[in-house]
Amino acid sequence: MSDTPLLTRRPQWTALEDHRAQGVPELRELFAADPARAERYVVRVGDLRIDYSKNLVTDETLALLRELAAATDVFGLRDAMFRGERINVTERRAVLHTALRAPADAVVEVDGENVVPQVHAVLAKMGDFAERVRSGEWTGHTGRRIRNVVNIGIGGSDLGPAMAYEALRAYTARDLTFRFVSNVDGADLHEAVRDLDPAETLFIVASKTFTTIETITNATSARSWLLAGLGGEEKAVAKHFVALSTNAEKVTGFGIDPDNMFEFWDWVGGRYSYDSAIGLSLMIAIGPDRFREMLDGFRTVDEHFRSAPAEANAPLVLGLLGVWYNNFLDAQSHAVLPYSHYLSKFTAYLQQLDMESNGKSVDRAGRGVEWQTGPVVWGTPGTNGQHAYYQLIHQGTKLIPADLIGFARPVAELSDGLKAQHDLLMANLFAQGQALAFGKTEDEVRAEGVPEEQVPHRTFRGNHPTTTILAAELTPSVLGQLIALYEHKVFVQGAIWDIDSFDQWGVELGKVLARRVEPALTQGTEVPGLDASTAALVAAYRDLKEV
Ligand code: F6P
Repeated sequence: MSDTPLLTRRPQWTALEDHRAQGVPELRELFAADPARAERYVVRVGDLRIDYSKNLVTDETLALLRELAAATDVFGLRDAMFRGERINVTERRAVLHTALRAPADAVVEVDGENVVPQVHAVLAKMGDFAERVRSGEWTGHTGRRIRNVVNIGIGGSDLGPAMAYEALRAYTARDLTFRFVSNVDGADLHEAVRDLDPAETLFIVASKTFTTIETITNATSARSWLLAGLGGEEKAVAKHFVALSTNAEKVTGFGIDPDNMFEFWDWVGGRYSYDSAIGLSLMIAIGPDRFREMLDGFRTVDEHFRSAPAEANAPLVLGLLGVWYNNFLDAQSHAVLPYSHYLSKFTAYLQQLDMESNGKSVDRAGRGVEWQTGPVVWGTPGTNGQHAYYQLIHQGTKLIPADLIGFARPVAELSDGLKAQHDLLMANLFAQGQALAFGKTEDEVRAEGVPEEQVPHRTFRGNHPTTTILAAELTPSVLGQLIALYEHKVFVQGAIWDIDSFDQWGVELGKVLARRVEPALTQGTEVPGLDASTAALVAAYRDLKEV
């Protein structure tokens, strides 16, 4: 049995409980007492300015949280991760997504072998292929140039490239069409290809394991669609299918030429993989140079996380704030609210990153945890959310800490008229942070002449915490910085909660049961051991199907 003390028995934990028992700080009072807080509670990394002044913490809270981080040896585990130690204990794997953005002359060893040359060899192969597709040199089976790229993958093999493609849309080759298919619902593939010409379409089958049923099913259907459109010639597959995987054997078994496989490694977790070969669709979209800029952005934050002192370490600060809300103020969720249309898939991407990593209930030694672990992560771009669910954040009964993310400049290609809308967008971000933090008191509402019976309804309690992340512009580098920031924030929290943030056993049971139930739906076979509720649902489904 592990001799690591249980988290909640550590003196640093009980010190935080005692501190919490003294009350929750009021933002109005904190700012009144210390106007310099707006400058003091800012951390900078790369191009990101992270203002955490509107959080419900004092200098003492932060000091106590840092003591907890020190006691749980967050930085020790961080160093072990960067060194390539097998910190994914349940799968006995190294966790080295940081090696994907290491410079060519860096040395990162796994079992005594430097993995950096392999990383750069695959990047070079991806770059060469991406340029050939972008220039039209790579042609389809009939000699026509590729105009459509369809990525087929799910989870980490979809969310990252799909999110980053949207985020960097302004940097993409506009003469190419990109689609992302993930759902085993045939409608997804149907809608993705119905208006495409197979002769001009390249499928990228993205799967770390190359065994994921959704992806293999969709890839098989895509192959049938392609062959049906190209006269059934099997050899067409070689010009229209490439694979991104760690599993060469399965890729070959599927019929994809191993020369058309872009490799990555078991020390890259699926949800940490879009800066590996999994990013090939993105690289075709934005080109290898922009992709490298994005990797440089990731690296900037890696280096900061590795070397910045605790007080100025952005991922550590964000991770600790989350621990404070999650474990001491009973927050159940965390909202991520980007004020950028281009970040429309950012929060969906973070859901996998955060919830698949930290949705655990046993510690690294296998003991049940007695403390809350990862929060529910949710959100959509402002200002849309303001007209949907912000009401609950402002006046509901739940504590919902939120990150507000915005940029000083819109993308260059907008017309002057549309660029002018940017100030209005950002005015909304700043106004929401202000309203959430400081609200509106009853006296302020009365002073506006509001009828007395409406005063309670129109009063805003305020004291809702937000962190504001600002950058000049959403560039490839800034996107890399943002993603690395959240990757390391999630790491910090997993380290404190003493859980394995790098496995995902929780998704296995559903997969196994789906395989078992499927024959009952397709062939009506008895499924032994099916519970009464599910058996009734299966029977109802079969009846409805036949009507
Ligand atoms: O949902 C579980 C999971 O293993 C994710 O962690 C992963 O990103 C996804 O499935 C897809 O896996 P693969 O890339 O192996 O197809």
